[in-house]
Amino acid sequence: MKHLLKLLDLSKEEIISILDLADQLKYEKKNNIAHPLLAGKSLGMIFQKSSTRTRVSFEVGMYQLGGQALFLSSNDLQIGRGEPVQDTARVLSRYLDGIMIRTFAQKEVEDLAAYGSIPVINGLTDFAHPCQVLADLMTIRERYAALDGLKLAYIGDGNNMANSLTVGCLKMGMKVAVATPEGYRPDQKVLDFASGNPNFLLTDDPVKAAAGADVIYTDTWASMGQEKEKEARIKAFAGYQVNGKLLEAANPGAMVQHCLPAYRGQEITEEVFEAHAAELFDEAENRLHAQKAVMVKLLSGERD
Ligand code: CP
Ligand code: NVA
Repeated sequence: MKHLLKLLDLSKEEIISILDLADQLKYEKKNNIAHPLLAGKSLGMIFQKSSTRTRVSFEVGMYQLGGQALFLSSNDLQIGRGEPVQDTARVLSRYLDGIMIRTFAQKEVEDLAAYGSIPVINGLTDFAHPCQVLADLMTIRERYAALDGLKLAYIGDGNNMANSLTVGCLKMGMKVAVATPEGYRPDQKVLDFASGNPNFLLTDDPVKAAAGADVIYTDTWASMGQEKEKEARIKAFAGYQVNGKLLEAANPGAMVQHCLPAYRGQEITEEVFEAHAAELFDEAENRLHAQKAVMVKLLSGERD
């Protein structure tokens, strides 16, 4: 594994190896066992969109690993004034040991990796959010001990989260049911990957998707960059709220997961959010541990 650009690029074994290392690093952190595995290394973090979890967990994670993280807002970089990503990649490769980037187009992340000579980590694009899904898989595995055969139902917008969850969960042998209105389906590349897999269901019926699910997952109806569509989207997704009634279709005790930020009263009710707050904030915490594992894998080579 040279980069983390999208989960389509990873094998099941690579995902398991990241999750195992994440569990180990979490255990060490909880037990005050220092792990300065990236001492002397520098990670550049390019942000073209807002972030709370991704920025803080990468920055703190790099610190805990003994390295340094630089926050690089695109407003301040020359990239914001038109310097091509191909040149930015080659310059930053001379200074840094790795780059994390959050941006709009997946192509920009792929170009950064193609032109640079250091590992690139996708911290969210319109197409994918692989770091989030690694943390999600870690959280689900913590609860159920194994992933194989579990059913995840994704309810709402067929966005970057729907794309990455579909790929990540199917690769791990899970069943995935995605319920979106027509016109808001996951990306065609993801549908091509999933098509023909008996573990995959695409429907416009949230209850059908939620039936027998072990994990119910949702995300905002208007992602970053879609602010102008917000009102239209609230109308389009009206029947796609994760609420108490929908949860009745899932397995008793099913987990509720959300990458956050959550918009109560839209994709999830206040009541469901608060009832599942413990596992939602475990999920947010696991961003730190999962990303530390990704950084160790990419910036220092394999670790037993
Ligand atoms: N879930 C997530 O990526 O959160 P941020 O946008 O706050 O980084
Ligand atoms: N789909 C959301 C995820 C935020 C973490 C977005 O792209 O804005």
